[in-house]
Amino acid sequence: MRTPIIAANWKMNKTSAEAEDFFSRFGNLLEVAGVEVVICPPFPLLGLAAEHCRRMSLRLGAQNMHWETEGAYTGEVSPLLLRDLGVQYVILGHSERRQHFGETDQNVSRKVKAALAADLTPIVCVGEMLPQRQAGQTMAVVGEQLTSALHNLDPSQVRRMVIAYEPVWAIGSGLPATPDDAEAVALQIRKIIGDLFSLKVARDTRIQYGGSVNPENIAGFMAGTEIDGALVGGASLDAAGFARLVKAAMGVRVP
Ligand code: 13P
Repeated sequence: MRTPIIAANWKMNKTSAEAEDFFSRFGNLLEVAGVEVVICPPFPLLGLAAEHCRRMSLRLGAQNMHWETEGAYTGEVSPLLLRDLGVQYVILGHSERRQHFGETDQNVSRKVKAALAADLTPIVCVGEMLPQRQAGQTMAVVGEQLTSALHNLDPSQVRRMVIAYEPVWAIGSGLPATPDDAEAVALQIRKIIGDLFSLKVARDTRIQYGGSVNPENIAGFMAGTEIDGALVGGASLDAAGFARLVKAAMGVRVP
């Protein structure tokens, strides 16, 4: 049985005061049960968030990392430091990193291996751009990103990972994929994992949908059999709204 997982990607948002405010409100709104809730703040807020996450049974995630454990990499953050700060998850290969910071499939693959070696759980983002979708290339693009990210891994490592299907055109646009479209891609992702590893690994790996998820549409994405949660950007910033979103997700998947 796959545990549902809702992750908040705060991106480059919030000051420390705003983060404190989020945690004090969120804690009063929600008793989280049966679903993993991961908060991924910007790097400088990880220490502050770690305290709150421990107290509230939330998981802590980072939005990126370098693949080396230490060294002369000005401005980068290592997997070991993330572990040291209490981080459990790390988002890798987000389309904003691919688009704006030149992240390649090869970089993502190195980061996935480094994250696993540091005992961090990668949330690997895959997804097509609008022209690629319009040209019918969605599965070719997603398949290539996924195959590269999973290259040379052990089945036991893949089963621990989370794959986030985030169509680039749906991110921040207010125009999400339909639940049926997202479900169809998730099914294909499972098929690729099955072909590369085994049916069991495919069945155990958690798959999220991301792109304009909100409290109103989350239940639709989780109603099917293939999507185990969401990677949420804009709708994760407001404590009340994000609590409603998590509750809606719990309503569908928690007995
Ligand atoms: P939005 O939820 O703001 O569309 O962002 C999605 C995303 O990029 C999460 O990683």
